Amino acid sequence: MIDQNILLTQLADETAKKFQQHYGRAPRWIAAAPGRVNIIGEHTDYNDGFVFPMAIERYTVIAADRPARAGENQVNWHCARTNQSASFPLTQPVPKAEPKHWTNYIRGVFAGFQHRGIDTGPLDALMTSNVPLGGGLSSSAALEVSTATLIETVTGQKLDPVEKALLCQKAEHDYAGMPCGIMDQFISALGQKDKILLLDCRSRKTELVPISDPEIEVLIINTNVKHELTGGGYAQRRRQCEEAARILGVPALRDATADLLEQNKAKLDPVVFRRAAHVISEIERTVHAAAGIRVSNWPAVGALMYASHRSLRDDYEVSCEELDVVVDIAQEIGADGGVIGCRMTGGGFGGCAVALVKADKVQAIASRIAETYEQRTRIKSSLFVSRPAAGATVVKG
Ligand code: GLA
Repeated sequence: MIDQNILLTQLADETAKKFQQHYGRAPRWIAAAPGRVNIIGEHTDYNDGFVFPMAIERYTVIAADRPARAGENQVNWHCARTNQSASFPLTQPVPKAEPKHWTNYIRGVFAGFQHRGIDTGPLDALMTSNVPLGGGLSSSAALEVSTATLIETVTGQKLDPVEKALLCQKAEHDYAGMPCGIMDQFISALGQKDKILLLDCRSRKTELVPISDPEIEVLIINTNVKHELTGGGYAQRRRQCEEAARILGVPALRDATADLLEQNKAKLDPVVFRRAAHVISEIERTVHAAAGIRVSNWPAVGALMYASHRSLRDDYEVSCEELDVVVDIAQEIGADGGVIGCRMTGGGFGGCAVALVKADKVQAIASRIAETYEQRTRIKSSLFVSRPAAGATVVKG
């Protein structure tokens, strides 16, 4: 029922083998970066608030070498997962591909390095990934950060990790057209083994919170649905938050309180009011949940996770029926059955839910969620467990 995670070393070996098969020689460099799961603190990063993600044991791995034949100054890239190849010229700046093309994330990162005067020269590259695509586990950040880590390895020019995360975020804004916050690139670049990262998205100060209780596991449940219809939903939420901050007279919703919001209720459009209510309460929940995890106060952490889900469902309106079904089932199993808390994770509109569960009950919980979810939705879910993983790494360099 629970999918096994492959060790990074094994995934890197497979990537090297595939590179060999595709290009006829061994790669010279290999770099990797993980996806992430956010324990709590959703849609708070672009409001200068707190987030509480961890990197997961799922990675994008890129193997590369100089092209065998001297020739054009271009990058050749093969995606082993989808068996697609693409090339782009290293003109200044690297041109964008058509909207939604998978190479835009990669192109944007090359452009970011060019902008800093760092040129890679021509490359042959091949990537593999076991971060679920479009599952809300930051497959795009894993691609950007692994590309940036590869470029650092090839050029020998290492960026400050926060600058690297910002470069990757800009790639996503400018080349992929997604106005994301900083959480995903940050945790993919700076994640640490066995630690959840409490990030203040305004000051970028971090605090590493160990998940020290061996009896607790992080279970990730992929609904295997992605509602594309709401593609513009993320940008719209951002605009609504900015509007609320403007009307409340604060630089960002981070600076607002529930009281201030209530006092200004009449001035706000009801939808904008609810969006702000989510963000203001979610920032508070995130800080409290981190405090709860520090002292293993599981009932408090669980209650905050369920409250986060309700707020995302009712006030922020980024959940969907399938995610709600998963959270309902988790709640039905309850603390007696070993579930501490559960909520949707990531941007929403499909993708994954995250649950904290008792380690000795994880198999039973996973079976019950998978079976009940399929009965209620007629869709098969995928489930896996992950410890907090280390961020981007150079496997060969
Ligand atoms: C996406 C974005 C992040 C963040 C989350 C919601 O994953 O990339 O910056 O806003 O959604 O918390």
